[in-house]
Amino acid sequence: MTIVHPSKRVAELREVLHEHAHRYYVLDDPSVPDADYDKLFEELRALETEHPELVSSDSPTQRVLGQALEGFTSVAHTVPMLSIRTETDTAASGAIIFDARVRRELDWGPEQAAIEYAAELKFDGLAINLRYENGVLVQAATRGDGQTGEDVTQNIRTIGQVPFRLRLAPGQKAPSVIEVRGEVYMRRPDFDALNQRQRALGHKTFVNPRNAAAGAVRQLDPSVAAQRPLSFFAYGLGDVQAWTPPPTHSELLDVLKNWGLPVCADRTVALGAQGLLAFYEAMRVRRDALPFDIDGIVYKVNSRALQQRLGFVSREPRWAVAHKYPAQEQLTRLLGIDIQVGRTGKLTPVARLEPVFVGGTTVSNATLHNEAETLRKDVRVGDRVIVRRAGDVIPEVVGCVLPGDLDAPAGVVGVLPRGEPFDLYKQLNGQCPACRSAIVRDPAEVDWRCSGGWQCPAQRKQAILHFASRRAMDVEGLGDKLVDHLVGEDGAGIVRTLADLYILRPEQLAGFERMGERSARKIIEALERKKKTTLGRFLFSLGIRHVGETTAKDLAKHFGSLSRLMAASTEQLMQAKEVGPAVAQSVHTFFAQPHNLEMIAKLRGVGVEWVEDEGPVQAIGPQTFAATLWVLTGSLPTLSRDQAKQLIESAGGKVNGSISRKTHFVLAGSDAGAKLDKAHELGILVLDEADFLNRLAEGQPFTPQEAQ
Ligand code: IVH
Repeated sequence: MTIVHPSKRVAELREVLHEHAHRYYVLDDPSVPDADYDKLFEELRALETEHPELVSSDSPTQRVLGQALEGFTSVAHTVPMLSIRTETDTAASGAIIFDARVRRELDWGPEQAAIEYAAELKFDGLAINLRYENGVLVQAATRGDGQTGEDVTQNIRTIGQVPFRLRLAPGQKAPSVIEVRGEVYMRRPDFDALNQRQRALGHKTFVNPRNAAAGAVRQLDPSVAAQRPLSFFAYGLGDVQAWTPPPTHSELLDVLKNWGLPVCADRTVALGAQGLLAFYEAMRVRRDALPFDIDGIVYKVNSRALQQRLGFVSREPRWAVAHKYPAQEQLTRLLGIDIQVGRTGKLTPVARLEPVFVGGTTVSNATLHNEAETLRKDVRVGDRVIVRRAGDVIPEVVGCVLPGDLDAPAGVVGVLPRGEPFDLYKQLNGQCPACRSAIVRDPAEVDWRCSGGWQCPAQRKQAILHFASRRAMDVEGLGDKLVDHLVGEDGAGIVRTLADLYILRPEQLAGFERMGERSARKIIEALERKKKTTLGRFLFSLGIRHVGETTAKDLAKHFGSLSRLMAASTEQLMQAKEVGPAVAQSVHTFFAQPHNLEMIAKLRGVGVEWVEDEGPVQAIGPQTFAATLWVLTGSLPTLSRDQAKQLIESAGGKVNGSISRKTHFVLAGSDAGAKLDKAHELGILVLDEADFLNRLAEGQPFTPQEAQ
């Protein structure tokens, strides 16, 4: 038996664990199961306990170090941490103005070639300086005022993505000093999970990932910081000694990536203002699908030599600029809280706001979700509140900013007397604001509801709007105002049931304000034309609680006909895709109520019909990729990952996260990395986006054999 010296085994284990950690945290592509990692980790920990003299600060066991601090010590930055100039968020001008300025300052005539830029995302977190000496992380500091920051090493060490040691190639010498600068941020899914935990513990939730990240970095107790899941992206350098960086910024980022630092794959080298704009636009479209917040794009002159020629003005480099997108969050004032009645009677508190421009439009109402959320955020009438509007998501109030808050923006000063905490029952006096029926709350639920059912004009109005909506019966022209008239303020209008819609006459509609004879006729024609629908749409349009569009489609697919669905027990309902007890119960209850059956009978009576399919489930579209196994890697030029996945699946293929011998195809984009190497190693067919789309469009069958 050979005896391995403990110091040798410790070194070996650290090497292996560093490598695994890199694949897990940075490449998001683990090569061993978690259990194997844990076993090696425990072995190392045991050896270190037995031989304390072998413990070193760059050991993977040393992520969470030491005691809570009294305060942070300050760190003078050897090279100041600058900020960058921001260009306006008006469409094209940012890139054009910047490119023109750079050309002017370089005396670059119109006849000279386009300037090469590195374009990258502007991450919405906080800047951090990581100092590596001889390849080992020795200090992490915040930006502070740019000259002096705070030593937050203990907290930054808890970030799995931050390497303790640079992954140098064998024989490669580490710079004696290299400071890597980048952004610490929190991914949205991590943020949502963190807030969920906060909620479960009855603690206040964080208003956005940036605030949560900032709070974690400035947390004095590293064991608390360790529970706040942070991430990191490198984007530049500070002090460097005994090393010459590559000639361009984009190559520098490649080097940092090879050294094991996380570098965002969404970046590009762009030529001139046109190239910058193309990236700006492409990322604007993808912004809401990213798993983290960005507030714009950063443009940097790619050549280091040109950067040096351009130099700095005051405390900003002339070679870099931030081109922002419209903000998705804004501060405004809460004027009041209205309560809306939804189609299932749910009572939703809605914030009435001082109008504010956010996410590209003026917002004056935003949801507060429910009473519990409103209380947790502790927003009160008169408060300064943060509204968020991202993409298609309806605007929401994410929290309030009080004068005493740590990072309260300018303008939030002084001590104001605050309003009363929100109390839905008290505000409504126990009655539905639309029909005066009693409001009720199931003890197991958070939402208050109106007990008026179809009698409540507000519920009826919402139910009709939902029934007619685009993804339900798709009746164009049945808008908010018209439905108000049809239902009547007190519910005494001409539409008492859904079936009444189909016996409307043009002259009845033409009487309402802003409704001519032509539009009246059009609406009636639309109702008539859309009477024929699918079972999935019909089910969705009924507005059964918990039955959204997807569930409705799944139910239709599973049961094939309405009669089969109506006859199903809750157990049978739960056999359909993604149907859990709550959905099953709700569907069952719906069809057990005589007034619902009567409504369906009436709809049938006026000619509403749908295709029923008693046969087995049909596949959708040509099954070009039937029985093939795919892996996606890198970023594709036009398709998002989700889109590519959907295309493959709808053509009968399957998508897997990791490559194995069973993989048939790899669809690879730029910055593909480790998976691509493995694909080549295993001799798996690699396609780029264009190949893939051509094959798909031509419906050229792909067979597993072809891949071999
Ligand atoms: S470069 C000398 N690149 O934006 C250039 N900054 O004022 C230094 N930021 O707070 C900055 N993403 O933390 C750069 N890809 C990126 C960035 C980025 C976010 C932040 C940075 C700083 C601010 C710039």
